[in-house]
Amino acid sequence: MFETLEKATLDKIFVLMAEYAADPRTNKIDLGVGVYKDDKNVTPIMSAVKKAEQRIHDGAKTKTYMGVVGNKGFSAGVVKLVFDGKVDESRIRTVNGPGGTGALSILMNVLSRARKGGKIWISDPSWPNHWPMAELVGLKPHYYPYFDARTRHVDFPAMLKALDGLGPDDIVLLHACCHNPTGANLTNAQWDQVAASLKKTGAFPLLDLAYLGFGDGLEADAYGVRRVVATVPEAMIAFSGSKNFGLYRERAGVAIAIAKDAASADIVSSQMQNVIRATISQPPDHGAEIIRVILDDPELTAEWKAELEQMRTRMIRLRQKLVEAIRARSNSTDYDFIADHRGMFSLLGLPQGVVEKLKLEDGIYMINDSRINVAGIPEDRVGELADALLAATR
Ligand code: LMR
Repeated sequence: MFETLEKATLDKIFVLMAEYAADPRTNKIDLGVGVYKDDKNVTPIMSAVKKAEQRIHDGAKTKTYMGVVGNKGFSAGVVKLVFDGKVDESRIRTVNGPGGTGALSILMNVLSRARKGGKIWISDPSWPNHWPMAELVGLKPHYYPYFDARTRHVDFPAMLKALDGLGPDDIVLLHACCHNPTGANLTNAQWDQVAASLKKTGAFPLLDLAYLGFGDGLEADAYGVRRVVATVPEAMIAFSGSKNFGLYRERAGVAIAIAKDAASADIVSSQMQNVIRATISQPPDHGAEIIRVILDDPELTAEWKAELEQMRTRMIRLRQKLVEAIRARSNSTDYDFIADHRGMFSLLGLPQGVVEKLKLEDGIYMINDSRINVAGIPEDRVGELADALLAATR
């Protein structure tokens, strides 16, 4: 059987994570995989999460099945968080997915049934998993222009031109906020234009919402998704609780479909459930229940929001510190874009050779496209990082 198989390519993010773990150097710096780290360089369990877990532990009476759609309270809490009651609920259907990726996979499976072999347009560049995920379900991925490598900001005229050329059979994958890997994001005015373009062409928006609250705040980060959904009749959103609730390994996500009316929404819902049953039977519940408990309790919600805000502002502070350190050493404004970017990542635009050199000589790990996770910057070593970056690019 196995003789017909060839070795598959592994995702570079997880390859790098393993390389980092195996590196014996004690002064190594991990700017690779997108996990938040605090000032002690650990990925903490949020205190609201700990409290919710305790409540779940104390009150649990059964581990019986939840059903194919998963934890409905979790989905309802997420829908409220994302849309703030601004969408007619009769048009919304949800299922839990194992993490944001699981949610995205369910949605892509349904889309591939709606448009067999259809084209899905992905930003250039994008999270490295988007392309293979689309291929796996039989969609045909293509890139639309997104990043201007010279300015390190969004090349919006090129992006809009490409979107304007699409039609009703096309699917467009959009990063709802905190673009991964670039860190360069659309302004509200640009979201307005994207939404208008989608309405004009009929292209279908699939929004990846993996970092809500990591950019400019929970409300500000929801602007794009709310705008698109208010403008077009149909959309899908993959929500992840991995980063904003720090639940990475628990795999808590929600697949959200918005249809033109309730009857159409019921059909999409049956398709999502059919995909779940035929692939994983039912979604996992532990992370889902944690988020439900937090979002159902005003005190825990407030505690979670405050912790999330601390994480967000810390990432902005680290961005500013790195830019200042580079400026102080080189008088150069070349890296100022890092402070303009939002979310967990910035794409530095370094050649692969430089990325490799930083890893081998300095123990500084970043993804080979030169994406850094700003949360991984140790605050007391910002100067050291600035020195290494400047020396490697000299
Ligand atoms: C990342 O981009 O590093 C994170 O989203 C982790 C992952 O699953 O790739």
